[in-house]
Amino acid sequence: MKQLSMKSVDLTQKNIKKIAELFPNVITEARDEYGKVTRAIDFDLLKQDLSDVLVEGEKERYQLTWPGKKQAILNANTPIDKTLRPVKEDSVDWDNTQNLYIEGDNLEVLKLLQESYLNKVKCIYIDPPYNTGKDFVYKDDFREPSDKYLEESGQVDAEGNRLFQNTESNGRFHSDWLTMMYARLKIARNLLRDDGVIFISIDDNELVNLRSICDNLFSGNFVAQITTLCNPKGRSQDKYFATNHEYVLIYSKSTLPKGYFSIEKEEVQIETEYPEEDENGRYRLLELRNTHREFGRHNRKNLFYPFYVNPANKKISLDYVEGFIKVEPVWEDGYEGCWTWDKAKATREMHLLVAKQNPSGMWKIYRKSYAEGATKMLKTIFNDKLFYTEKGQLTFSELFNEKAKLFQSPKSVDLIKCLLNTVTRNNDIVLDFFSGSATTAHAVMQLNAEERDKRGKRKFILVQLPEKTDVNSEAYKAGYKNICEIGKERIRRAAKKIKEETGADIDYGFRVFRVDSSNMKDVYYTPDKLKQGDMFDLASNIKEDRTGEDLLIQVMLELGLELSLPMETKQIEGKMVYYVAGDSLIACFDDNVPESVIKHIAAEQPRRVVFRDSSFADDSARINVEEWFKLLSPGTEIQVL
Ligand SMILES: C[S@@+](CC[C@H](N)C(=O)[O-])C[C@H]1O[C@@H](n2cnc3c(N)ncnc32)[C@H](O)[C@@H]1O
Repeated sequence: MKQLSMKSVDLTQKNIKKIAELFPNVITEARDEYGKVTRAIDFDLLKQDLSDVLVEGEKERYQLTWPGKKQAILNANTPIDKTLRPVKEDSVDWDNTQNLYIEGDNLEVLKLLQESYLNKVKCIYIDPPYNTGKDFVYKDDFREPSDKYLEESGQVDAEGNRLFQNTESNGRFHSDWLTMMYARLKIARNLLRDDGVIFISIDDNELVNLRSICDNLFSGNFVAQITTLCNPKGRSQDKYFATNHEYVLIYSKSTLPKGYFSIEKEEVQIETEYPEEDENGRYRLLELRNTHREFGRHNRKNLFYPFYVNPANKKISLDYVEGFIKVEPVWEDGYEGCWTWDKAKATREMHLLVAKQNPSGMWKIYRKSYAEGATKMLKTIFNDKLFYTEKGQLTFSELFNEKAKLFQSPKSVDLIKCLLNTVTRNNDIVLDFFSGSATTAHAVMQLNAEERDKRGKRKFILVQLPEKTDVNSEAYKAGYKNICEIGKERIRRAAKKIKEETGADIDYGFRVFRVDSSNMKDVYYTPDKLKQGDMFDLASNIKEDRTGEDLLIQVMLELGLELSLPMETKQIEGKMVYYVAGDSLIACFDDNVPESVIKHIAAEQPRRVVFRDSSFADDSARINVEEWFKLLSPGTEIQVL
C-alpha cells in the first residue's frame, strides 16, 4: 500500500529523476544534510556527457570508476564520419528479408544505428570477450583515424589486424575491458524499447565489474543473474576449484511488472501437472486453505469463514443449509488457518470450487486451476544439458560437417532460444553485437519456426567485426578468412536445416551491410579547409566509387529509417528513382533530373524526398523543384545531399 507523504514534492529528487531518464549513468548516491543516503547527480559525469572534450575533476562519492571511464563516455558520444554499405552479393533474399547482418566494429555500428533503431529493439543478447587474458579487446579512439592510431601504437599485426591481446600483465587489464564495454552498453541502451531487456553472458573474470556498470547504465533495473552449468566436468586447469559454470546477467531498460519473464508451461509438464479435465480443458486442484502456517484466523480474520457442503452430492454453499457439513480452514491438528480467497471472491468464483473428503473423513475445499495460459517462472540456475557449451559446439559442427573447430565455443542455440523466449514475440527485434558464429540468428529462426503456427516473425540484427582468422587455424584452412564469413555461412546453413526439418514459413534471409568510410568526400564535412583547387571537385561531393544504393542507405540512416524496409527502384525517363517503404522516402541521385521527373515524383506525394545538389542544372531548377512540391505535395520534406 502506498503511503501519502503529506509533504510538498521534493523538487530536487524530481529533477534528478528527469535527468536519470536521459543520463542514467550520471546517477550516484550521496549523503544529505542529515547523513541519509539519497540519489544524487555526479556532475563530473554529467559534464562529460555534455562535452566533446575530456573533462577533469573528481570528488569522493559512491561509484565504480576506473582510468578511462570518461574516455568511454567520450568514445560513446563522439560522432563518426562512416556509413553502412549494402553487400547484396552476400545477402540472402535481399528484397523480402527483415534480418540484418552488419560487418564492422560494434561501437561504430551502434552509433550508425542510433537514429534508425532508437527505442526499437526489444531484446539484446551479447556474449562479449570475457577478458580471460586470451580473448581480445579493441582500443577505441575516434579522434584519429584508427589505422593511423593503431600503426602508431603498434597494435596491428603483420596482416594489419586491429587486435591486441589484453593480458593480465597489462596494467590496465580491467580498465581497458571496462572502457570498451561501457561505451558500447551506453549507446546500445538507447536502442532498447522502454520494455526492452538485455542478456549478457559473462564469467567470473569481469562479472562484478559488469554488474557495477550495468547497475549504473540501467538505473538499477537488475532482473537476474542466471548461473548456467556450461561444462559439467569442470575446468581441470583451474587453480583451486574446477569451474563448471558461467552467468547470464539480465537488465531491463525500465522496471517491468512481476511475472514478465515467465514462460508458458510445456505440453509434457501440463500433462503431468494437470491430471483432471472438464469441458473447459485440463486442470488441477489446489487447496483453497492457505498452506503457510504463519497465516491464520489470528492475523487474517477476513479469510476465516465457513463453507457448507452437501455430503450427498458435494455441492458447496456459503450460507448455512440444514444437513450440510460445515468446512473451515482448520488444519488436521486443529490449528485455525485461513483461506486464500476472501468471501467475495469465493462467491464470484464458486463455479471453480470443489469439495472432497480425505481418507480420514475430513472435508476439504479445492479450487480448479486450469492449464490454459499457465506460466512458470524460470529458476536462476540453468542446468539443462541442452545449454552446455559442448552442445553449442556440436550443433555448430554438425552444420558444417566438420569435426575440426572452425569457431571456438559457440553458445548453445537452446540457451539463447530459452532466453529469447522469455521476452520476445511477434515482430520483435533481437540484436547481438558480439555475434561470433551467429548462434543468435540460428536461435531466432529456430524459435520462429517452433511457434504454434510455424510463422514466428522475430527479426535479428547481428553485428560482427571482420576479425581475421589465424592463418594456422582450421577456419582459415577451410576458406573462412574472417569471422564474418563463418557467421554468414552459419546463418545460410542453419536456415536450410530449419526449413528442411520444420517446413516453417519464416524469414530465412538476411541483408548484409559493411561499415565503410562515409560516401561523402572530406570537403563535405570540412568546407572551411577547402583549397582553391578543390573547388572543381565540389561539383561532386560524393566519392567516385559510391553507388546510388550506397547513398540511399546513408540517407536512410540519417533519416532514421530501418534498414529492413522494402526498397524498390524504377527508371523514370532514364533516371534511377529509389522508393523506400512505398512513399516513406523517394530519392533520385542522378545528375540533371528533368522537371518532368520531379513532377512525376511530386505527384506520388512521398513523405520525404531526397536529391543530390548536382541533380539540378542551376539555382532556378532548384527553386522550381520547391514550387512543384508546394503545388503537388506540400507535406513532403525535401532534402538534398
Ligand atoms: C565470445 S564471441 C561470441 C560468440 C557467439 N555468442 C557465438 O555463439 O558464436 C565474441 C565475438 O565478439 C567479436 N568482437 C569482439 N570485439 C568486437 C567489436 N568491437 N565489434 C564487433 N565484434 C567484436 C569477436 O570477434 C567474437 O567473435
